[in-house]
Amino acid sequence: MNILGIESSCDETAVAIVANGTTVISSAIASSMQIHALYGGVIPEIAARSHIESINSVIDQVFIDSGLNWDDIDGIAVTNGAGLTGSLLIGLLVARTLAIVKNKPLYAINHVEAHMYSNYLVDPPPKFPLLSLIVSGGHSQLVLFENHGKYVVLGQTVDDAIGEAFDKVAKIIGLPYPGGPSVAQAAKRGDPNKYNLPKAKLTNKYDFSFSGLKTAVLRCAQQVVGGDFRLSSTEIPTLLNNQQRYDIAASFQRIAVETVVEKTIAAYKEFKPKNVVIAGGVAANQELRQQMTERLPIKITYAPPALCTDNGAMIASLGCFMVMNGVEPADPYTLGVEPNLKM
Ligand code: KG4
Ligand code: ZN
Repeated sequence: MNILGIESSCDETAVAIVANGTTVISSAIASSMQIHALYGGVIPEIAARSHIESINSVIDQVFIDSGLNWDDIDGIAVTNGAGLTGSLLIGLLVARTLAIVKNKPLYAINHVEAHMYSNYLVDPPPKFPLLSLIVSGGHSQLVLFENHGKYVVLGQTVDDAIGEAFDKVAKIIGLPYPGGPSVAQAAKRGDPNKYNLPKAKLTNKYDFSFSGLKTAVLRCAQQVVGGDFRLSSTEIPTLLNNQQRYDIAASFQRIAVETVVEKTIAAYKEFKPKNVVIAGGVAANQELRQQMTERLPIKITYAPPALCTDNGAMIASLGCFMVMNGVEPADPYTLGVEPNLKM
């Protein structure tokens, strides 16, 4: 069974064909990240326009690469939330149109839930019950999956997502967007114990909070350059030297990663799942992978970095499992976007 997945929730126009939920037949991505990097963050209008410009050729590409045609496609899966409204609309309207014109069932995909499915694209696929740490630019959550479509959200962020914190910290210390890879790169040369940054304490032990940590980084950077709290975050990058930048990046990354690792270990001990998986853009972080591998008593599963960040294959994979589990398709004439869709 082959499902075509379409993803356009943020700055990646991504399409893939996946067989049986586990095999990527072909996958293509066009990203507008280079343009957003000039502004230090995603500009929704530019992202939406870029999706319009690239979506047809990205779809063509997966058919060219796979040698398949529409007769080989059993259904279309499309992200309808969460994400940027204008961006989601492009993928969704294209998917709705194709579902009608090609007469294919259409499946509405929750982007955050789909991130977990990147782990079904690596061999061997994880087993239920499974604990999933989903950490991206828009979300941080710990989810216990009892089966496909059957899960409990144990905890989530009460403010910023962890990826968002990486992006904001990068901006404060003058590193390029996206902040995750650039902070991780800078951290390699820094001392992770140089600065003492706080870990948030929350009522629900599985919830996350990263906005306090981000503010602590700002205060730390202001102090390091000898300024006070009035020094604006735009002035700091020019005053920091490289070693200070690396040390702040490393100290921040250590605390951010320790926070999610410790909560995952606590949830593992409480719920004793068969597998632990990490997913979402931040799952590409080497420090996170290393700490998880060293500190968890079982082997964790993670996908290659290209499947951790936004892609069409995870959307198609979840679509396959929805078909195999008898989930009703959506109405291609009425399906709408849900920018704030929750798990
Ligand atoms: O999953 P994703 O591609 O998009 C969302 O659904 O948000 O995640 C993007 C996020 C960005 O915040 C980016 O800075 C972060 O993932 N990221 C990383 C790394 N690579 C990407 N964060 C930490 N370390 C990385 N190596
Ligand atoms: Zn994502």
